[in-house]
Amino acid sequence: MDSVRLPTAPSSLRTQMLGQPVHHHHIPLPPRNRHYDDRNLRSKPFIGITRSSRSRNHVSPVAVISRDETSMAPPLPTASPLPRLIVSPNSLQYPAGYLGAVPERTSDPENGSIAEAMEYLTNILSTKVYDIAIESPLQLAVKLSERLGVRMFLKREDLQPVFSFKLRGAYNMMVKLPAEQLAKGVICSSAGNHAQGVALSARKLGCTAVIVMPKTTPEIKWQAVKKLGGTVVLVGDSYDEAQAYAKKRAEEEGLTFIPPFDHPDVIAGQGTVGMEITRQAKGPIHAIFVPVGGGGLIAGIAAYVKRVSPEVKIIGVEPADANAMALSLHHGERVILDRVGGFADGVAVKEVGEETFRICRRLMDGVVLVTRDAICGSMKDMHEEKRSILEPAGALAIAGAEAYCKYYGLKDVNVVAIASGANMDFDKLRIVTELANVGRQQEAIFATCLPEKAGSFKQFCELVGPMNITEFKYRCGSEKEAVVLYSVGMHTGGELKELQKRMESSQLKTLNLTTSDLVKDHLRYLMGGRTSVEDEILCRFTFPERPGALMNFLDSFSPRWNISLFHYRAQGETGANVLVGIQVPELEMEEFRNRAQVLGYEYFMESEDNIFKLLMR
Ligand SMILES: Cc1ncc(COP(=O)(O)O)c(C=O)c1O
Repeated sequence: MDSVRLPTAPSSLRTQMLGQPVHHHHIPLPPRNRHYDDRNLRSKPFIGITRSSRSRNHVSPVAVISRDETSMAPPLPTASPLPRLIVSPNSLQYPAGYLGAVPERTSDPENGSIAEAMEYLTNILSTKVYDIAIESPLQLAVKLSERLGVRMFLKREDLQPVFSFKLRGAYNMMVKLPAEQLAKGVICSSAGNHAQGVALSARKLGCTAVIVMPKTTPEIKWQAVKKLGGTVVLVGDSYDEAQAYAKKRAEEEGLTFIPPFDHPDVIAGQGTVGMEITRQAKGPIHAIFVPVGGGGLIAGIAAYVKRVSPEVKIIGVEPADANAMALSLHHGERVILDRVGGFADGVAVKEVGEETFRICRRLMDGVVLVTRDAICGSMKDMHEEKRSILEPAGALAIAGAEAYCKYYGLKDVNVVAIASGANMDFDKLRIVTELANVGRQQEAIFATCLPEKAGSFKQFCELVGPMNITEFKYRCGSEKEAVVLYSVGMHTGGELKELQKRMESSQLKTLNLTTSDLVKDHLRYLMGGRTSVEDEILCRFTFPERPGALMNFLDSFSPRWNISLFHYRAQGETGANVLVGIQVPELEMEEFRNRAQVLGYEYFMESEDNIFKLLMR
């Protein structure tokens, strides 16, 4: 086992319900002076409610892990600041398409001052971003619109010169810098779209740009920035380290730090997207769906659209495991996520901006959360629609718009989704193609237990009947019963229920595994014969993106205990998702936990997972 060489996961830029003015669905806030125990949530990540459940009351309780005593909120003029809340993404989950995290507006009866609103409007209207950005087209998504019964328009920011909207904000800030400040140069930290926006803006304005990226940034990304004329500095193992270095260097050398989202000029630059949409739309818009990371894009769009056409809903879309804005709106203050899902790397942020949050609280209508599968489904939709490949963050808003239209049964309205970027990590395509049909509810994954006897495979196939099998895994075992893992193509949810009924009525126990990430990321690849391994515990570790991460891991647990299972496949994620089995006797569990804590890698215990037991033991 120790000879396994785990490739460092390719690093990529950091990165899942309607603002009904008439009926807001507020989720009750937990008392602030209590710390909620999140251990159950940690050991088993879950989506609070399944797609099939429509009850608006079934929202999982919000767990507050702790307050971060070191990272203080900006001082309030009156009271002493409270430490920032640290919360888990799992603590606020609701069904796909539901508009949650609807901001409380009662504390702000004036809804922001007129002077402030005018400042943003003037900034947006007088922008010079068209020196560098194009007015991107607003295109009807014909197939999606037909399927949903609405007119869905896509704002094609993926067609910008650096394949995302990020150059708007960077340029809008940089073009306003006084000549002498610009002459000293700018600096930013980013491993993705912001880096390219700053580099291109610097080239246009004739200034130098230092782009600080983590050492683990794939060559293709830093080469792209270098080609645009940026001076790439590779520093630290993580984005946070790169940012700290960039800020320090800005101070020491008098360079101007260009933040990725939290600055009024960056927000106003992104706001030009909203200005274009209002000009380009041919009819009344019901809602604009915007992907949310730090909140710069949505704050800018809201700052324009809500002042010009207040009836248009501005709806944020976040991955369910990267929901910093939803949780901040829910708590009424900026929270810090204790972990963040890295699939949609463009929006994987642990905390939203201060200014972006101030605007969003006042102007946005709520947040829709979507799953990784749904994002993949929307990436496929976009490919079918326009033959374009979006990056996951780029397709996020389309997934949110579709889910929302379905959840609220909207028909015959105009909705806009921002296709925000196309800087796709090629390695990620593998997982996208695996999950896209599941995300579009055209494929489902099942396990069926068959008696290990002649003729049962044939009987099973007869029961699957007309359904198209897209994946099939079976290996004869030593027991009386074998488990078959398989995927089927489908057109309606009813077909699945029928299939399950047919199996069960023939006494073949059948489980629908479609929502299990453990199955989709690991078990479908590992499956093939069950073994009972003594004292085996099963953990899903997230290895950090740095060379030597595997050796560090092995140094912590080997040779102390035997590694009995190891599965990893690069998926272009921010952290490597590794499934590990280790033989640790019950009495030594405390030592295991201590060693894991010293190692510091995030992990979930999966030993008690019933699907694992069924397929692997
Ligand atoms: C493609 C893409 N979409 C959406 C976002 C989120 O933007 P914001 O951080 O302004 O919310 C980003 C941020 O980098 C991005 O790169």
